[in-house]
Amino acid sequence: MLLTRAEMSFEFGGARLSPERDAELLAWMMNQFLYGEVTGIQCGHWLYDAPDLDAARFFSRQAVEEFQHVDNFVRILELLGKKPGQAHGMVRFLTSGMMPDSFEEHVCLEMAQGEGFVLLALYALIDTLDDGSAAGREIKQILQRAVKQEERHVAFGERRTIAALQTKRGLRSRLLGLSLVSMWGVRRLGAFMRDRLPKDHVVLSHLPAFLEFTQRCAETRLLRMGVLEKPLAETSAATKALALASAYALRPALELLAAPLKLLPNALNPLAPKRVTQTYLSDAQLDTRVRNARAPALARAVDEMGRIEDGEAEPAVQ
Ligand SMILES: [Fe+2]
Ligand SMILES: [Fe+2]
Repeated sequence: MLLTRAEMSFEFGGARLSPERDAELLAWMMNQFLYGEVTGIQCGHWLYDAPDLDAARFFSRQAVEEFQHVDNFVRILELLGKKPGQAHGMVRFLTSGMMPDSFEEHVCLEMAQGEGFVLLALYALIDTLDDGSAAGREIKQILQRAVKQEERHVAFGERRTIAALQTKRGLRSRLLGLSLVSMWGVRRLGAFMRDRLPKDHVVLSHLPAFLEFTQRCAETRLLRMGVLEKPLAETSAATKALALASAYALRPALELLAAPLKLLPNALNPLAPKRVTQTYLSDAQLDTRVRNARAPALARAVDEMGRIEDGEAEPAVQ
């Protein structure tokens, strides 16, 4: 990942969440995660729209992992003695209300940024959860296994966002606009938590500073991926306004222009992205694999020719 575990770890000053004392609060948190994990069904959409074998293979594995996480959070709720419940509206908006239009938006917004926010929350939970009881230990172990997989999801999102920006320079402004809105959504969710959850709690009293921290991490990730060219404080209001316009205001106009083409079959629509079923034979991964498989045979042939020239071997009879 572009940010290390240390860079994504917030200092809670030794404050602890107890699975027994804070069962209600932890269950509320788990229900937010649970909703996010169920949105793993979106992997199916992106598997169908994957631009290459690398992405298709990744999404098929990710779908399995996200549904393992669904079971993980249901198990944690069981350990807390609580039932699954509704997620907050802002969590639903952030995870399924902003369904991206393209693969590039998905890898940047949902994977690098969105799952990056989830990782920050999971790290915070792991670091503050009291594991003095059997339930605490099992919950922590479940979370530690899940973050290994989430780290891979974030890393894939970062890698493919960087690759997309190298070939589609015009993409930067739109990705920035969408990222600014998702950061705003996280601040709104934080404001809700600050207002509605107990303020005098040892862990929750750190919430305002933790929220600031999540914003700084998101900004650092945007800078390291190249979505942001300089820190937000140095980015002009005009650049931010243009980014928001290219993400939202210009979208209806572009969709209107492209609407007639959507009536055509995918293969005849010049604006439709090609599916893996149309491109797999020229896929970069397949190509590398074929070349690697051919390399030893080629090396043997060259070696044989050398030995014939040196008189150490007879040419093969044709
Ligand atoms: Fe997950
Ligand atoms: Fe994930």
